[in-house]
Amino acid sequence: MLETEVSADLLRWYDVHARSLPWRVPPGGNAADPYRVWLSEVMLQQTTVAAVIPYFERFTTRWPDVQALAAAPEEEVMAAWAGLGYYSRARRLVECARVVAQRGGFPSDEVGLRALPGLGAYTAAAVAAIAFGQRAVVVDANVERVVARLFAIDAPLPAGRAEIREATDRITPALRSGDFAQAMMDLGASICSVRAPQCLICPLSSHCAGKGAAEAYPVKPPK
Ligand code: ADE
Repeated sequence: MLETEVSADLLRWYDVHARSLPWRVPPGGNAADPYRVWLSEVMLQQTTVAAVIPYFERFTTRWPDVQALAAAPEEEVMAAWAGLGYYSRARRLVECARVVAQRGGFPSDEVGLRALPGLGAYTAAAVAAIAFGQRAVVVDANVERVVARLFAIDAPLPAGRAEIREATDRITPALRSGDFAQAMMDLGASICSVRAPQCLICPLSSHCAGKGAAEAYPVKPPK
């Protein structure tokens, strides 16, 4: 496999098929607003894209930037969050907004982002890549599945995660790593789905070691 060909083929696909989502800029476009990227990524932890969209629209209409959210009473934010679940996320959202507003904006690298309240490894990498154009290795459940299939990674989860991360690192491009991450998520949410993946129309099929046996990956831990 030629690693640079994987990202090139994926980005070519994304340029045509990217989902248009309210926190995104068009493929290849300028960096997205860090506040909108951060807010969407926190909302998308454990909640589907379809469920998040109306909440995201309401939040950004009411609190258009991080200063506005930082100034909001916590109970109002909690009330607006109702229905998204995992209320500790909402509390940490306000806490994080206050820290960011106080320091005059989001840190622009992964290490600085990781230090903010509520930002785990995934969210810090996603914001660094999508909002700041930094090369970062972004692995969520969709990416994990796509990569486990692409490299036919036989190590079962959770131990296989180290190998999946390493493989994701190898195919992550230096440029457009935010588009690359979102393209992997879109591929995982559509063609490289959990059930009935559509290998015949996949832009990565010529590189894919798991093609035809895709549903065997990622390998589940033994019961
Ligand atoms: N899931 C989590 N973050 C996402 C993003 N930026 N685009 C699509 N799906 C996502």
